[in-house]
Amino acid sequence: MDYKVQPATSLQGTLQLPADKSISHRAAMFAALHEGTSVITNFSEAADPHSTLDCLRRLGVEIEEQSGHTIKVEGVGRDGMKTPSTDLDCGNSGTTMRLLSGIITGSGLSARLTGDESLSNRTMRRIIEPLRRMGAHIDAREDDFAPLSISRSAALKPLHFPLPIASAQLKSCVLLAGLFGEKPTEVVETLPSRDHTERLLSLSIVKEGEKKIIRSSRQDPVPQQSYRVPNDFSAAAFWLVAGAIHPDASIRLPKVGLNPSRTGALEILKQMGTDIEITNNHNAGAEPVADIRVKSSRLRPVTITEEIVPNCIDEIPILAIAMLFADGVSKVSGAEELRHKETDRLHALAEMLSAAGAEFEEYADGLKIAGDPDFIPDGAAFKSFHDHRIAMAAAVMGLMGEEPSTVLDGDSTAISYPNFWTDLSMLTN
Ligand code: S3P
Repeated sequence: MDYKVQPATSLQGTLQLPADKSISHRAAMFAALHEGTSVITNFSEAADPHSTLDCLRRLGVEIEEQSGHTIKVEGVGRDGMKTPSTDLDCGNSGTTMRLLSGIITGSGLSARLTGDESLSNRTMRRIIEPLRRMGAHIDAREDDFAPLSISRSAALKPLHFPLPIASAQLKSCVLLAGLFGEKPTEVVETLPSRDHTERLLSLSIVKEGEKKIIRSSRQDPVPQQSYRVPNDFSAAAFWLVAGAIHPDASIRLPKVGLNPSRTGALEILKQMGTDIEITNNHNAGAEPVADIRVKSSRLRPVTITEEIVPNCIDEIPILAIAMLFADGVSKVSGAEELRHKETDRLHALAEMLSAAGAEFEEYADGLKIAGDPDFIPDGAAFKSFHDHRIAMAAAVMGLMGEEPSTVLDGDSTAISYPNFWTDLSMLTN
């Protein structure tokens, strides 16, 4: 479905954001691996974490969805999952497919993991290679893409794995397989990516200079996962940028997860001069949380380089919109990984910027954007490529136009933010 975006005269209000997607996936999976019941509150109602719940149920885990976004998971422990009698449909969710592949390999069960068209065209090579070294037998289309048929006949081998790319999904996949091994598996991380897996499983971490060595084995107890999932920082980022670039804005976002391995965009927006206030800092389980308020700001240009990219990987589409309204030229480099997301996000951004009439250049690993605080995007039809983050970035840009614009296939927002369009109209009314 296509969505019309009207130019906004002001953006005011308080939004109850959706629950964190990355944490919801992990909360459900780790609760399933725990021996005993976990009650998770504020579990995400978005499509991706629900793909995870469906797969866990097919693996024999009982999950009760109670009212008010609470789920009760009857954990079966590491050895309690059952061979599924049907495919595990991961939908659009890379996190579901990559993390579950680690669990399937570790458990020694046989399963076939499938996904939608977008997921079936995202590389799985990165997980296939280490999982095979751990003893998995994996059949994949063109030895790279889903469907993935996974089984294991040989014993699970522990792995010492320096991460070849800064990816939290890859890191988590290997650590989850390692959780089933008698001897520790070690993942060596040089560029930090989101650390929810290590935190929520309380895994041992040794720091050696710039490197982090994270270990998992059967000796690590899987803790109960009863906590409130923080609201999603990645969803907050859309409104942080909307509030910053709009001349009449004040937006409050309560209880947002502020895990430092996720908040690169917050640092970048502060560096650009965004008027942001953070209050009510507290913890929810192992994760830091706070309330954020953003107001209209005059933005400076910024340069994003490789080291910070894993820390703001999902926020780069909306940061590109912030750059468009900054006073000068901004640059993103070292972000080739964006070409392997739900769509090729660098290409999608280039199409969006071009449709808006912006001045920019696209590179193999990034973008250069000539910003202007008085930029008025053309009221165009923006392609979302069925990608939730591209659709939401286009909608925020549309608020700044003089003419209405259209976001094509804007219902993909349900992948991470089911109430996005309602929240947008609440802020503008
Ligand atoms: C995620 C990790 C990120 C991110 C994705 C969710 C996760 O991917 O883009 O939306 O929950 O582990 P990579 O770190 O694998 O690039």
